[in-house]
Amino acid sequence: MANRRDFLKQGALLAGAVAFTGNASIAAPPLPSVNTDDDAYWKLIRAQYPLNKEKIFLNNGTIGPSPFSVIHEVQQDMLEVDTFGRYGGHEDVALKALGKFLNTKDTELSLTRNVTEGINIACWGLNLVKGDEVIMTGHEHVGHALPWLNRAKLHGIVIKVVQLGKTADETLNNVKNLITKKTKVISVPHIPCTIGQILPVKEICTLARERSIWSIIDGAHPPGMLLVDLKDIGCDVYVGCCHKWMCGPKGTGFLYVAENKRNEVQAYYGGGGFDTGWDMLSNPPMIKGYAENGHRYYYGTQNYSLFKGITKAIEFQNQIGRELIEKRVRGLATYLQDHLISLSDKIEMLTPTEAISRGAQVSFKIKDKEMSKLQSFCLEQKITTRYVAENNINCLRISTHIYNNQEEIDTFLTAVDKFMKA
Ligand SMILES: Cc1ncc(COP(=O)(O)O)c(C=O)c1O
Repeated sequence: MANRRDFLKQGALLAGAVAFTGNASIAAPPLPSVNTDDDAYWKLIRAQYPLNKEKIFLNNGTIGPSPFSVIHEVQQDMLEVDTFGRYGGHEDVALKALGKFLNTKDTELSLTRNVTEGINIACWGLNLVKGDEVIMTGHEHVGHALPWLNRAKLHGIVIKVVQLGKTADETLNNVKNLITKKTKVISVPHIPCTIGQILPVKEICTLARERSIWSIIDGAHPPGMLLVDLKDIGCDVYVGCCHKWMCGPKGTGFLYVAENKRNEVQAYYGGGGFDTGWDMLSNPPMIKGYAENGHRYYYGTQNYSLFKGITKAIEFQNQIGRELIEKRVRGLATYLQDHLISLSDKIEMLTPTEAISRGAQVSFKIKDKEMSKLQSFCLEQKITTRYVAENNINCLRISTHIYNNQEEIDTFLTAVDKFMKA
């Protein structure tokens, strides 16, 4: 446990050192002899984040606050770049760390700015023709929906919408029933942004593979929340970001394309890094070939300091322990879900209660209530939540992460109760 103690100490020192947050009163928390999953330990974890002490942040599904160590790493590196005019760096280390984090080869990963970018690369890279069918859900985020809808508009591909079931089996069956001879792609979220249920992606990918259908998974939420194992999932493409549950720098993400599929996902945007050589003086001028790794999908000058921040964010999670993180964040969400259900029969729980289908997000409605009003009501009480307007769902989504605790959930439950009685 010594390394965990050192890690906490280091974070606490950084907490004291970072004054620009306006939260200069953050003092070094006492360092207990930490073992596992107790409140004192999680309080110290909370102190690793600059999060405002007066507020309760329950919207990690939109953006994951970074711990001080990540902010500090990026800040220091940017300072170094601008002090010495350094160019490049940190990319290989970040890719290796991400590869390990996701159980895949670093050569199968590309570094992107966000999920939307990764989805666009995969969506436009596939050779699809008019009439080809793509299965998606009615719960897509704009960043996953619009690339495909745009291809439908421009190229005449057909989007088929699958209903999510209350259980993983039901969802899997619904997908199966929608497959036709024209189905070329299944592109679904691992966890939709609306109701936060975990889809049976491994089973969906098996289904797709058996029928030579492309499987593309929008993994905006799971990395850093669940132990994501890409080889086990067996997808062709997985698109994720580091700025939600990984709590990495904002504007960082990744695209995974399975090695054996790389040549079928055409790279359309070119630039430094995406090629194996090029020649403007040959006749005709030409590109020799595409990079035999994920670099074929990104190019040009990047903010390399952010890559260093990705590595730090992974290190932070590894130091806490990823299984412990998953247990904690799912445990908090389960606590919230159970208490919401027993709070009132006016509450309609949208997130499935099936254990394998619930993660670290809970979405619900209240009968006859406009849920954006509950969001505003919570904000007045310094609680940040996410109102879900997508597809007229009209629900409130609560996200839990390691900086949250049961007391905060109780405060939120009290707010819901007050709102219902008002
Ligand atoms: C499920 C899902 N997909 C895609 C996105 C788009 O992510 P990004 O903003 O990183 O492009 C989000 C963002 O919240 C999301 O929740």
